[in-house]
Order: sequence, then structure tokens, then C-alpha cells
Amino acid sequence: MIHKWLHYFPIYESHLEPYRGRDVRLLEIGVSHGGSLQMWRDYFGSGSTIVGVDVAPRVAELAGDRIHIEIGDQGDAEFLRRVAAEHGPFDIVIDDGSHLPVHQIVSIEALWPTLPESSIYIVEDLHSNYWAAYQGGRHVESTFMSWITERIHDLHAFHSEEDGFAPNEWTHTLNGVHVYDSVAIFDKATREVPEHRKTGWPSFDDVPGVEPGGPLEPSHQRQLDALEGRRARLRRAQRRWSTRVGARFRRS
Ligand SMILES: C[S@@+](CC[C@H](N)C(=O)[O-])C[C@H]1O[C@@H](n2cnc3c(N)ncnc32)[C@H](O)[C@@H]1O
Repeated sequence: MIHKWLHYFPIYESHLEPYRGRDVRLLEIGVSHGGSLQMWRDYFGSGSTIVGVDVAPRVAELAGDRIHIEIGDQGDAEFLRRVAAEHGPFDIVIDDGSHLPVHQIVSIEALWPTLPESSIYIVEDLHSNYWAAYQGGRHVESTFMSWITERIHDLHAFHSEEDGFAPNEWTHTLNGVHVYDSVAIFDKATREVPEHRKTGWPSFDDVPGVEPGGPLEPSHQRQLDALEGRRARLRRAQRRWSTRVGARFRRS
């Protein structure tokens, strides 16, 4: 038996099709009844090796031809690194395990450094990040969704002008983040400082624009002030949410 949301399939096709027919090594966290491991084995073809990780010991019996199973907790970074050392490096990782944001974060942070160039890391069922039972919520800072936002910032760190916001490992290895309904896909590839060039000839003698550091046009200043008001309201809403969600967890 396989259990997947239907809208994942065209998304997977667009990201995973180039790996078909290659000697791909895939790790899926979350085995359940084993159907998705068989699906990946059939989809990627005879050169593929599929590894499943699950906390439930009974799924060990679902190992088979080109399907390996390791029993352990995805919240245990050491365990995941051992799996990667034994069966990896993995070209594709799919996290379909506990769906707890903290596990999603621990797992990707443990496995990302072990992944080779041109690999893909997928996290499924991110709607859990919006559910209180999973310690989620739109403005909860500890969710995987908030973690993704930080990675999007890291992706842009080459352009930073701020102290304390400098390129890090993510800046150098994360080539793209694709966020769909409930699925996020991370592309791993080495990145250098981006460059840009102009080519061709100007269409005008002078190009109008705003002087860096110069005064803003009154209409732009009004837009900026309006935005600042919205940001302040958002910060207040965030504080109210965190207090309410925290109180709900203390009660339960
Ligand atoms: C949604 S099911 C996996 C479904 C399967 N990938 C499929 O597509 O059919 C989630 C699985 O994650 C396992 N799981 C839950 N918590 C886990 C954890 N902390 N570490 C590893 N596996 C876990 C459960 O035992 C369950 O088998």
C-alpha cells in the first residue's frame, strides 16, 4: 500500500524525471506499508537502490530486491548519518516520516552535508506545520516553514549588506527551494558568487532612476510608511499567536 497526496505526482515527475534510468540512490524516511519504496524502485529502474527508514521495527520485513530498511528515529541525527554512510550518498531523500517540524529540521540538517552534488531533498506533508497537534501554526517560529524562510534568506546572502548576514554553508550549497502545497524541494549544487553582465547597446542616452541614498519621491515614501504600519500589525499578531499556541500546549 502507498499513501501519497495526488497533487504530488506531477510535482515529482517534473523534479525526478531526469534521474530515471540512472544508478540513483534514494532514501525515504517513513516506510509504513512499503508501497512507496516499491514505487520508487519501479520508477527509477533496475540501477536504483532504495533505502527506507522507519521507527517501527515490524517494517524491517518489507526489505527486498534493491530495497533496504533501517530501523531508527529520524529525530536521531547520528542514526541518519550512519544510514547515509552505509547506504549513501543519496541522490534523492524524501522525508515522509513523523511530519513533526522538529524532526523535519533535524533530518535535513543531518543529511544535507552528506548529499552529493546535484542531489534533491524533498519534505512531504508540510500542512502539519499549520496544525497545533504538530506544534505548528502560521506564526510559530519553530516550524519547518519558518526554517525554510531562513534558508531562502541564506540563498540570497551573497547580496547582503547587513552585519551578521553573510554567506554560509547553505548559501554555497543550496541552489534552489521549490515550495508547493505541502511539499518543499531543495536542490543541492555548489554555488559561487553570482555575476551579471550587460551586453548590447543602450536604447536611451540616459537612464532615469533613483539615486542610491537620495531622497525618495513623496509617493514612494507614502508607500513605505503604509508598509511599515502593516509590518507592525503583523508583529503584534505574531506575538498574540505565539502566546495563544504556547498556552494551548501548556494546557494539553
Ligand atoms: C506517512 S507514513 C509513510 C508513508 C509511505 N512513505 C508511503 O508513501 O506510503 C509515516 C511513517 O513514518 C514512520 N515514522 C513516524 N515517526 C517516525 C520517526 N520519528 N522516525 C522514523 N519514522 C517515523 C511511521 O512509523 C510510518 O510508517
